Amino acid sequence: MAGKVTFCAFVLVLLSTLAAAIRPSARSSTVARRAALENGLGRTPQMGWNSWNHFHRNINEEIIRQIADAMVDTGLAKLGYEYINIDDYWAAYDRDSQGNLAGNASTFPSGVTALADYVHGKGLKLGIYSDAGTRTCGKLMPGSLGYEDQDAKTFASWGIDYLKYDNCNNQGISPQPRYDAMSKALLNSGRNIFFSLCEWGVDDPATWAGGVGNSWRTTGDIKDTWASMTAIADKNDKWASYAGPGGWNDPDMLEVGNGGMTTEEYRSHFSLWALMKAPLLIGCDIRSMSNETKEILSNQNVIAVNQDGLGVQGHKVQQDGDQEVWAGPLTGGRFAVVLWNRGSAQASITASWWSIGLNASTVVDAHVLWTDEITSAVQGELEETVDSHACKMYVLTPK
Ligand SMILES: *[C@@H]1O[C@H](CO)[C@@H](O)[C@H](O)[C@H]1NC(C)=O
Ligand SMILES: *[C@@H]1O[C@H](CO)[C@@H](O)[C@H](O)[C@H]1NC(C)=O
Ligand SMILES: *[C@@H]1O[C@H](CO)[C@@H](O)[C@H](O)[C@H]1NC(C)=O
Repeated sequence: MAGKVTFCAFVLVLLSTLAAAIRPSARSSTVARRAALENGLGRTPQMGWNSWNHFHRNINEEIIRQIADAMVDTGLAKLGYEYINIDDYWAAYDRDSQGNLAGNASTFPSGVTALADYVHGKGLKLGIYSDAGTRTCGKLMPGSLGYEDQDAKTFASWGIDYLKYDNCNNQGISPQPRYDAMSKALLNSGRNIFFSLCEWGVDDPATWAGGVGNSWRTTGDIKDTWASMTAIADKNDKWASYAGPGGWNDPDMLEVGNGGMTTEEYRSHFSLWALMKAPLLIGCDIRSMSNETKEILSNQNVIAVNQDGLGVQGHKVQQDGDQEVWAGPLTGGRFAVVLWNRGSAQASITASWWSIGLNASTVVDAHVLWTDEITSAVQGELEETVDSHACKMYVLTPK
């Protein structure tokens, strides 16, 4: 009991210090919503890989094993990428004679348990996919609507660590009861399973999903284009105040390395996702990624912003046409800042201390994250020239 009181007091102190960053309406209910989901997972945004953005339906157990190998061999695992998540199309068309989900016998012949053992043997975790409807989005797998307890127990018995739960063929039933049923089923499954809601933001999940899941999609699917990525960043920004340790806004998985954007656009994509405390779920084929892709996904300075213990989602604090400043607080009184040029020509961007939330007289050291340089004794504002569709990202440490 004493521990609980101390914890609550600590949370209140923490929240009051963050008053500027968190809207009052969200703040009052945050503690209560968090308490409802007691799986202890997602204290920082989840990191890993998912099969969908690159492979779509063309997956099999060999690919998943090789991705797990590559995660370790490329050094990505050491940087925190731990979940290997299988998306749609892993299961057989029908449930088995006991009504259980079963892996597709031709593409996953060894079975999911063997795959989980393999992935666990690499020090990684295995995620899987189902749908809060009668069939998944691809329609070639059963959904879990009405089978929540049975499927959660099946996943637990296989050694699954993470469930992405989609929203197709939902019979017109509103999301909350459908996602709540699976949340409870997972909590009762006998295994601690990360719960990733994927209802595409249709019912404003940020406002209710904190007590249901560890992350919730805020938008429709990302496409591997600059237009899609930028639009999704803006939509996700609206819900910034609802994110925090245990429950994160999810603007969908990374497209870095899939070929539809330039290197600078992918660098912006990764920087913004990191600042927004979005899940960092790689969506490319890491077995054959380019050096540029690996360099972006492996930047420890940027990953550290995403994984910062304060868990406050950075947001857009300044906009002047296509020139934007996004920022948010970090532990130790520090701030993360992104100068983002969304325009078609090089431009100068100035981030003022007042928009970031710093006292005008404060002097900081500015760590330039992508070049790993330190600029000492900066005061009042940060002004830089930024190339088209590029960004500059900083951590500011008050002296
Ligand atoms: C298994 O996957 C293959 C390849 O995607 C597909 O053609 C087949 O229909 C699936 N089998 C079942 C039983 O779902
Ligand atoms: C990628 O990086 C590796 C190791 O740093 C290097 O040996 C290789 O030549 C690079 N490949 C290309 C295409 O630049
Ligand atoms: C800003 O800094 C000045 C000088 O250190 C200090 O007197 C003032 O209280 C600070 N204001 C805020 C809002 O922290």
